[in-house]
Order: sequence, then structure tokens, then C-alpha cells
Amino acid sequence: MKKDNYIAIVLAAGQGSRMRSDVAKQYMTIYDKPMLYYSLKVFQESDIDEIVLVVGDQEADYCREHIVEYYGFDKVKAIAIGGKERYLSVYNALLVAEERRSKGVYDGEHQYVLIHDSARPLITSKIIEDTMQEVVTYNAVVVAVPSKDTIKIADETGIIKNTPKRSQTYIIQTPQAFEFNLLKQSYQETMKHTDLEITDDAMIVEHGSHHSIKIVEGDYKNIKVTTPEDIAIAEMLMKVSCVIA
Ligand code: CTP
Ligand code: MG
Repeated sequence: MKKDNYIAIVLAAGQGSRMRSDVAKQYMTIYDKPMLYYSLKVFQESDIDEIVLVVGDQEADYCREHIVEYYGFDKVKAIAIGGKERYLSVYNALLVAEERRSKGVYDGEHQYVLIHDSARPLITSKIIEDTMQEVVTYNAVVVAVPSKDTIKIADETGIIKNTPKRSQTYIIQTPQAFEFNLLKQSYQETMKHTDLEITDDAMIVEHGSHHSIKIVEGDYKNIKVTTPEDIAIAEMLMKVSCVIA
């Protein structure tokens, strides 16, 4: 039987506005390396077939030369240019992957796409392996951890409306992985509704299909570096996880 193909989309576009730093957060230095390096390294050393890296408009040459080539990430086969919103960055990468597929680059029976935020530099090989394994069974999976806190739903004025059962609430991480055609078709449907605020990839499939989405166990250390204090937390977590020597 033909082997399946696994394509990682690593997102490194976006402004990082909540970080309030001069350098976009994905290029901020953590232990002498740009944040983006850490995600690319784990994917490079995984069983993923190839990486489509998504970067900002002006950053493609810098990334190719100073990150992809400099660190020898030869699984990065294409660089896509990001869009205005995260889900549009993913869409641009999908178009690039679609073009590669039409050229016959992917020879497997199925193609699976794993989408990952470079703002999560603590991604592990175990999470990638588990995601790759589970997406074959479920076609749509997201990495998540059970919420330790009680989550409340409030209205725009801050008045609490309801409280979902804590045992049913999860903090959603990346990677999120999908069978290629399911994700593409879901995008085609969801993009018809421009009023949606789409904050993760699963929402594309939730709105654009009736397909169920399975949770894969993540790791509390797989944080998204978003605000300035997260840099110190990421450094500390890297030390305790032995990501750095
Ligand atoms: N991202 C992207 N394209 C965008 C927006 C975000 O590729 N148009 C990527 C970011 O690089 C990041 C991931 O999506 O790795 C998660 O987004 P987030 O943490 O929200 O990053 P930013 O949008 O850059 O930050 P902020 O929302 O604070 O402006
Ligand atoms: Mg954002």
C-alpha cells in the first residue's frame, strides 16, 4: 500500500501585536535562536514529509536565508506569504500545497495537513507523532489539554451568561490536523460566510462540514507565546524540558 503524505504548515506571519515588541514575536530570540527555529526543528526531526512555512510579506528572503538554510531545515519545501488573519495565512499555505499536489509531488494514498503556530516553540515530537497517528483514524484532530480553570461565557458587558461543565472544557493548542480534501472543502464552505471570527483551524471544519473533530492529548507546556511575560515562561519551560542544553 502507498504511504500517506504528511504536510506541516508552520505559521510565522502575523504582527504579534499583544507582545508589543519591535521585532515580531516569532523572530524574538530565545536562548540565542529565533522562536521560529524551535518549531521548525521538531518538525524537521519528525516523520513529517514536508513543511510549508508561512511568513509575512517582507520576510520570505530573510527566513529562507537566515533560518531555513542557516539551520539546514531541508524539509521546508515552500514558503507561502501570510494573509491578514491567521486562517487566511493557512489558506495561502493550502493553495501552495494544492499546487504541489497537482504537480504530483505527493504520491501517497492520502494527504494529511498538520497546522502549527510557530508561537508554540515547546511543541514536542510526541505531540507530532500522536497527531499523525490520530488524524489517520479521525481525519480531523486538535491537540488540547483539559482546562484547569473554570471557564465562563460572558456577554459584551462582562455579565456572566453560563458556565460550561469544567470536565467538558479544553484549552486548544496546535498542531491541528486534517485530511487534505476535508480541510479544503471546509474552507470553500466557510469562506462564504465572511462575518465569522475564526480563531483556530477546527472552526473551519466545524462551520464548513458536519465532520466530527477528535481531541488529541497535548501538553500544558505547549504554551502559545502571546504577551511579554510568556517569553520568560517559555525560557523556563525549555530549561526544565531540556529543549536547551
Ligand atoms: N499568524 C499568521 N498569520 C496571521 C496571524 C497569525 O501566520 N495573519 C500566526 C502567528 O505567527 C502565530 C500564530 O498564527 O504563530 C498564532 O497567532 P497569534 O498568537 O495570535 O499571533 P499574532 O496574530 O501574530 O499576534 P497578535 O494576535 O497578538 O497580534
Ligand atoms: Mg493573532
